[in-house]
Amino acid sequence: MEKLWTGRFQKPLNEIADEFNASIGFDSRMFAQDITGSIAHAEMLAKQGIISESDKAQITAGLSDILEELQSGALAIDEACEDIHMFIEGELTKRIGEVCKKLHTARSRNDQVALDLRMYLRGECGEIQALLKEVIAAIVTLAEKNTDTVMPGYTHLQRAQPILFAHHLLAYACMFLRDSDRIADAVKRMNISPIGSCALAGTTYPTDRDYEAAKLGFDEPCINSIDGVSDRDFCLELMSAFSITMMHLSRFCEEIILWSSWEFSFVELDDAFTTGSSIMPQKKNSDMAELIRGKTGRVYGNLFGLFTTLKGLPLAYNKDMQEDKEGIFDSVDTLKICLRVFAPMLESMKVKKDNMLAAAKGGFINATDLADYLTKKGMAFRTAYKLTGQIVAYCIEKGKDLESLTLEEYKSFDAMFEADLYKDISLETCVNKRISKGGTGKQSVLEQIERIKKEL
Ligand code: ARG
Repeated sequence: MEKLWTGRFQKPLNEIADEFNASIGFDSRMFAQDITGSIAHAEMLAKQGIISESDKAQITAGLSDILEELQSGALAIDEACEDIHMFIEGELTKRIGEVCKKLHTARSRNDQVALDLRMYLRGECGEIQALLKEVIAAIVTLAEKNTDTVMPGYTHLQRAQPILFAHHLLAYACMFLRDSDRIADAVKRMNISPIGSCALAGTTYPTDRDYEAAKLGFDEPCINSIDGVSDRDFCLELMSAFSITMMHLSRFCEEIILWSSWEFSFVELDDAFTTGSSIMPQKKNSDMAELIRGKTGRVYGNLFGLFTTLKGLPLAYNKDMQEDKEGIFDSVDTLKICLRVFAPMLESMKVKKDNMLAAAKGGFINATDLADYLTKKGMAFRTAYKLTGQIVAYCIEKGKDLESLTLEEYKSFDAMFEADLYKDISLETCVNKRISKGGTGKQSVLEQIERIKKEL
């Protein structure tokens, strides 16, 4: 296909160079944004008297037809074109002839592509936020079913203090709420229109950039035309927000994988979200969770790929910038599919409450509470901490736990101990006494659920 820019060239582009140069293989997904942008551009040109009303009518009608046909599948994208912008302009020329040639007045592909990408990502961010909301809702539903489920809380992957399973789950809900916020924040900065920057320097035509920006749902036109066509920081911001979200998903998946192991046996994933082994008949593998964990790597990779692409680029547009798209599109697709799989996987996961409780009963998980007991009786915390450590060492030596030590044994350590200590170190007390705001006590967890629901 003849290029639209062939005027000054004596020969066609080398075949391999042509293939190498093309971006239609990946930028055609922005066709709707490209057409919407072009319609707004034609309307602005007509409003400003740069093209006639009848030119505008032909252009916008032609573009609307192309959009409809692409959406219905009646029109196929011609992969021989250089990029989606050239394809649509070429297709419009085929349909309305000479008039189409006026569409690209006061515009360049440099501001056009920057516009399309921002509009495309704006739409995708809305979808990602909706999917995040579903994940958070799934977490809250599971948390509501587990406000009495006690499990060991860990630090250093060592049993630390008993917590409610709901409390543990809600930690992730909070993270995903922030992820959604981060995306919204990045969208705010992205929602500035580059169109009208033209190649880099603006134009001599009396354009109305404010009108075009408003028409396309942007907050305002970019302040500086060179910035408008040169920067892709909005891609970096989004990709880092996506990377953080993937990191949260990955940590959650890592825990689900651990919990699904025989060694923990805290949860069982539904058959519909696990796979078997080709050789070991007993296996039930958490492939979905592992894949989410694995795909986190490529989302990070895309972020660092673009950082590296941009780091040495002089202003303004350079063809290197065409490399922005595949990475961010891949990150968008990856995050979306991961969120889509994660929500139903979590919803259908079986919680083995008894195993969680049994694990919470071991490992001197109530040692802090024993120290707190002494502190409340008047001993300084550090002294109580040390004495409790000695009692734990004694238990380990005798093969006992804190609950099964007799009062006489306790009294041999300190006369302060009374029979009421057993109630203070019971699991129920350990959990439900933690009424501090944000803590694991049931009342506090119920408040957290309410708050998160409000945020949703
Ligand atoms: N396909 C190009 C891209 O994705 C469009 C912009 C091309 N502009 C140019 N002057 N070569 O970046």
